[in-house]
Amino acid sequence: MIDKQSKIFIAGHTGLVGSSIHKKFVKKGFKNIVTIPRKILDLRNKKNVESFFKAHNFDAVILAAAKVGGIKSNETFKSQFIFENLEIQNNVIYNSFKNNVKNLIFLGSSCIYPKYSRQPISESELLNGHLEKTNEYYAIAKIAGIKLCQSLNEQFNLNYKSLMPCNLYGPNDNYNFETSHFFPALIRKIHNSKIKDEKKIEIWGNGKPKRELLYVDDLADAVYYFLKKRTKENLINIGNGKDKSIIQYAKIIMKYLNHHCKIKLNSNMPNGTPQKVLNVTLAKKLGWTSKISLEKGLDLTYKDFIKRY
Ligand SMILES: NC(=O)c1ccc[n+]([C@@H]2O[C@H](COP(=O)([O-])OP(=O)(O)OC[C@H]3O[C@@H](n4cnc5c(N)ncnc54)[C@H](OP(=O)(O)O)[C@@H]3O)[C@@H](O)[C@H]2O)c1
Repeated sequence: MIDKQSKIFIAGHTGLVGSSIHKKFVKKGFKNIVTIPRKILDLRNKKNVESFFKAHNFDAVILAAAKVGGIKSNETFKSQFIFENLEIQNNVIYNSFKNNVKNLIFLGSSCIYPKYSRQPISESELLNGHLEKTNEYYAIAKIAGIKLCQSLNEQFNLNYKSLMPCNLYGPNDNYNFETSHFFPALIRKIHNSKIKDEKKIEIWGNGKPKRELLYVDDLADAVYYFLKKRTKENLINIGNGKDKSIIQYAKIIMKYLNHHCKIKLNSNMPNGTPQKVLNVTLAKKLGWTSKISLEKGLDLTYKDFIKRY
């Protein structure tokens, strides 16, 4: 059982997701949260991760550390995306198991599902077809993580869950055009266009791919909810089950910023998967639903963005 005295390791606490999870657990009154910066413990380092876990006696582990990026960095750094993620997750999951940690949350992403999955995508679509090429290496690392957790649950009766969120956004996101996801990139492009008084922005691909977006605090809420809950299912989709095209999101941000400009499509850049809306029936059946609207989430995210840029 997890309670407020439980010793919980949050790996990746400086990132978009980890910082939101950390905030959630502090708010809920957890007193014994452990975090460690990457410069002190690089989670790829097998020996150091082993010593770190031995020195603690964690009741639960939340793995929000990963090499993460948008379509461009996934395509450019294929080997790093597969190798670094395998190293991080193998070290953290295996040492959790070795040190008797009973509860663990592993985070994957909706890109683990085949490119042409039936929509909305249910958990049973896993390994039913070919992956989208632009994030295949990242997806394969994540699938290995899910299967590692599943194998440990089946063999040793543990509570190691894999939550699969849709695209996320929120405070503390990455706005670097080279490495960011589509939504923070759109916010930055439209913001820049407004302050420079320019009347156009460029969008990669044809702008038609549809994406589902979840405010990151909703994911943190799901992590909090599912860490405490014992379920027979190991893989659970986390989203709101609604999607929009990239162009529609651009228009929503333009309206929010009261800055309307032309969209120039860059067809030299890839589109990625045409659609990947999650079927969230299982999460709902288990008692969890998202709460934060896109309007509210965008407002909170933009206020954070202008503080930092
Ligand atoms: N962002 C999304 O849209 C999205 C969607 C679905 C799922 N997810 C999942 O959520 C998780 C977190 O993603 P995120 O968006 O929060 O990524 P992020 O903002 O890039 O944060 C990644 C975190 O991992 C840490 N990290 C990376 N490599 C490390 C290493 N070798 N050793 C120690 N720490 C390391 C980073 O530390 P530094 O700050 O020191 O770099 C940072 O704290 C990932 O598993 C991802 O698959 C994200």
